[in-house]
Amino acid sequence: MKTIIEPFRIKSVEPIRMTDAAERDRILRRAGFNPFLIHAEDVLIDLLTDSGTGSMSAQQWAGVMRADESYAGAASFYRFQESLQAITGFAQVLPTHQGRASERILFELMGGPGKVVPNNAHFDTTRANVEHSGAEARNLPIPEAALPADRHPFKGNLDVAALETLIAEVGAARIPLVMVTITNNSGGGQPVSLANLRALRAVCDRHGLPLFLDACRFAENAWFIKQREEGQAHRPVRDIVREIFDLADGATISAKKDGLVNIGGVLLLRDPDLFRRASELLILTEGYVTYGGLAGRDLEAMAQGFQEVVEEDYLAYRIRSTAYLGEKLLAAGIPIVEPPGGHAIYIDAAAFCPQLPPEQFPGQALVCALYRQGGLRACEIGSVMFGGEGRPAPAMELVRLAIPRRVYTQSHMDYVAECAAEVFAERRRLRGLRIVEAPAVLRHFTARFAEL
Ligand code: F0G
Repeated sequence: MKTIIEPFRIKSVEPIRMTDAAERDRILRRAGFNPFLIHAEDVLIDLLTDSGTGSMSAQQWAGVMRADESYAGAASFYRFQESLQAITGFAQVLPTHQGRASERILFELMGGPGKVVPNNAHFDTTRANVEHSGAEARNLPIPEAALPADRHPFKGNLDVAALETLIAEVGAARIPLVMVTITNNSGGGQPVSLANLRALRAVCDRHGLPLFLDACRFAENAWFIKQREEGQAHRPVRDIVREIFDLADGATISAKKDGLVNIGGVLLLRDPDLFRRASELLILTEGYVTYGGLAGRDLEAMAQGFQEVVEEDYLAYRIRSTAYLGEKLLAAGIPIVEPPGGHAIYIDAAAFCPQLPPEQFPGQALVCALYRQGGLRACEIGSVMFGGEGRPAPAMELVRLAIPRRVYTQSHMDYVAECAAEVFAERRRLRGLRIVEAPAVLRHFTARFAEL
């Protein structure tokens, strides 16, 4: 059979409240043309993020009921620990409430003034935590990452030559660790190859540097390796995942992505001394080491979620459904970041509406049009998110359609593609925006706009 079906049946449903275009226009105006300010029940298909928005399985809900809520040494913690040990091979595992909590602890311990942290592309909370420690965050993507139409199979790769240059320039002593984000979220959800990870390991070994993963979407990355990398097709995804983690000295994970849960995070550390100091910080601000700011039920949900996410039927469906949406948009003539990423499709808004210059926020204009047309909620990743006084213009104006895990069906994706195609047909009518009010930092969450 050619059709890849959703490998699950639906046992519990959540109604979507239908709206019409006139109502949505009123809602959009009330929200200052910023979909972050729209109430979720006024959204038909919510593609704002794939983080914490997935559906849990019946087994995960069973774990929620079974959970042990003891303060210390809960059975749920040991199930969580065993699950992570089995998937990653790391013996030392800390739970945190989400990815950025792991990042905060890591960079409080390893960052600091004068240090430089290289990454293929820092996610915004990672960058913020590096900078909060006083260190500098340096992105070193391969050049293909900046070309939306380039179909490099591993566009998430870190530029190994650029890393060598950086080490020669600033000296290994100022680099506390090398980080790799799998998949590269800021760069289009693009995967990193095993060959790239092995090469980075070799560079790190030569200079005595630790290699860390931002492993939020490790299973999706491993699936791309199995599909695209020479000599990997025969390997079980679990083996590939294990090799990825074996190459690393540590990892931060937001379990809200490939942990298949609504809340939770993980910090993995190989070095016993670092682990001891991280445990102390965890107790200081998150919670005791056997719960890390979570309830026992959250640990149970993670223990199960990390096992389900490496099931190959799930990954085949997951990556295929993202590609399916990407192909439909391309067939309608819509420019996207190619090839389609793992968790999201990124529309190239600058090419979608070339009549709008960056200062009129083409991405935000497109986000608003998608909401008006079909009640879709998407996220601008361009001049609204990264611009502002004294900041360099971003390389791309993108709109991200992030797909929650196990939530929407193929007909929902057909609807999304139809909505985008209708907006594309009328793209010359898209109106630019100006900012009416905005805070100084992270302005995309709360800024209000007016149409030009
Ligand atoms: N690293 C990456 C690559 C991420 O995509 C995220 C979150 C984080 C770290 C932080 O994790 O939210 O659990 O603290 N990304 C979400 C998104 C918010 O929409 O892409 P967190």
